[in-house]
Amino acid sequence: MTDILDRPNIAPDGTTIGDQSAESVHPETWVRAPQDAWGHPAELPNPLRTGGSERVPAPCAMVIFGVSGDLTARKLMPSLFDLYTSLPLPDGFCIVGVSHRDWSEQDFKDKMREAVVTHARKDVTAESWEGFARCLSYVRGSFDDPGTYARLGQQLTTLDGERRTLGNRLFYLATAPQYFSPILQGLAHADVLERQANYLEPTEGWHRVVVEKPFGHDLTSARELIAEMAEILTERQIYRIDHYLGKETVQNVLAFRFANILFDPVWNRQYVDNVQITAAESLGIEGRAGYYEGAGALRDMVESHLLQLLTVVAMEPPAFFNGNAVRDEKVKVLRTVVPPTGSGVGIHAVRGQYAPGFVGGQPVPGYHEEKGVAPDSTTETYVALRLGIDNWRWSGVPFYLRTGKRLPRRVTEVAVEFKRVPHLMFQNMGELDLTPNVISLRIQPDEGIAIRFAAKVPGARTQLRTVRMDFQYGAVFGEAGPDAYERLLLDAMLGDPTLFTRRDEVESAWGIVQPILNAWAEPGAAPPALYESGTWGPHAADVMIERDGRTWRRP
Ligand code: BG6
Repeated sequence: MTDILDRPNIAPDGTTIGDQSAESVHPETWVRAPQDAWGHPAELPNPLRTGGSERVPAPCAMVIFGVSGDLTARKLMPSLFDLYTSLPLPDGFCIVGVSHRDWSEQDFKDKMREAVVTHARKDVTAESWEGFARCLSYVRGSFDDPGTYARLGQQLTTLDGERRTLGNRLFYLATAPQYFSPILQGLAHADVLERQANYLEPTEGWHRVVVEKPFGHDLTSARELIAEMAEILTERQIYRIDHYLGKETVQNVLAFRFANILFDPVWNRQYVDNVQITAAESLGIEGRAGYYEGAGALRDMVESHLLQLLTVVAMEPPAFFNGNAVRDEKVKVLRTVVPPTGSGVGIHAVRGQYAPGFVGGQPVPGYHEEKGVAPDSTTETYVALRLGIDNWRWSGVPFYLRTGKRLPRRVTEVAVEFKRVPHLMFQNMGELDLTPNVISLRIQPDEGIAIRFAAKVPGARTQLRTVRMDFQYGAVFGEAGPDAYERLLLDAMLGDPTLFTRRDEVESAWGIVQPILNAWAEPGAAPPALYESGTWGPHAADVMIERDGRTWRRP
């Protein structure tokens, strides 16, 4: 039988999926730009200043499993509160927390208030909290107890009556991946969650499930998880989150590339020398040894966030901004990525681990000194990779990826470094202080785009220098955009899967990192190289890139 993903826009009945479903082109794509009386483009309002989106989802109940965990406190509840106070949430929207904690409903609300006060963007006033708290309810129970799901079912039926949520349900699994299947089975057995058609979602009574990363531990476990979830749900019901895709600046890479004619003609192997993708963090593991010891930087950051950044930079232009059109192109590029394998891993992949040092002038412990870390742990906190992309556009252009904890500062950027001009006519005419053109897309902080190019120094002599042209989000739009989770939660409520990871994307991403995981797990494999906290990573990463005659940028 043909897999629906092999013919992604065609439903089994032969109709085009994108036409009648939530995967259709976003309505805002069709809005004609405002014009003044003479037909000239009118000045556009700044949507960040004029207060928000008109994308209001249908009423629904959102059920959070793992509501007592860190993710709920730091990200989910604050983002839901921020959404609620910016008003795109429908009347009747409600949140049901599920956890084994022996909390009363009031305890639950108090904990959530604490989280919101600490982490939300918006101020919490007595009035806004009171309104938001009315949306909250709590179901206590363990994930392996059928009674939990029965109680949850009753609560959802009550909410359908009281708040008119129309049977629409969004389940958020903010738990470790080993609980995904037991929770889904519990929900399915209790008839709280039902399997729905892959190509046409009901307009009322839709059931969707959002799952957090990590999605599996390696390629095999990711495939098992995909298969287990597919027994209970269709692909269209599953929303796999990678919060980097919710970041405004990551989406802006798509706008920069595909809404401007200027850049695409040079966005290829004819003009690009190399691409460097950096996600540096100054923080350590922040008390997450329980998770991080079994993960490491390759699984935690590269398999997910860095490969997502690579796809938006390297993919071909999709025909539409919708779920399958965008994800088809992302999968296509992931499938052409050539990772190092076997002995190539030692040359094109570097792993490191932070030793004690100073970050921001403060002494910080090494990874081995962190609570919960095994004294002989070989978990990597830094990775640098050289990947190739075997396709017409990128053949021969190296993509250098690096990420690490306890580096000098927090910065995420994509830098596209161009080739030198074929002939420089200014060679004999004075001082030249030129570096090749670079377009750097700054994801965080100081979100923006910078272009580095050559300019003449004013004066009678012909002297050239490299200068930067800067676009900064803050300066143009005046306010920070919504948090990544706000965007993604809203999209899941709206049934828009464009910014979520499809199952073939997950498999392709694991396929890229798996040979490296294998090589590092070999008996006798060299352990991670130590780097002093507060430095830019192990020397071996410099050696790796210098072997190609290049150097890392200092972002
Ligand atoms: C998470 C990782 O997915 O992303 C963390 O598990 C990492 O280890 C974090 O710190 C980085 O996200 P951001 O948005 O701070 O760049």
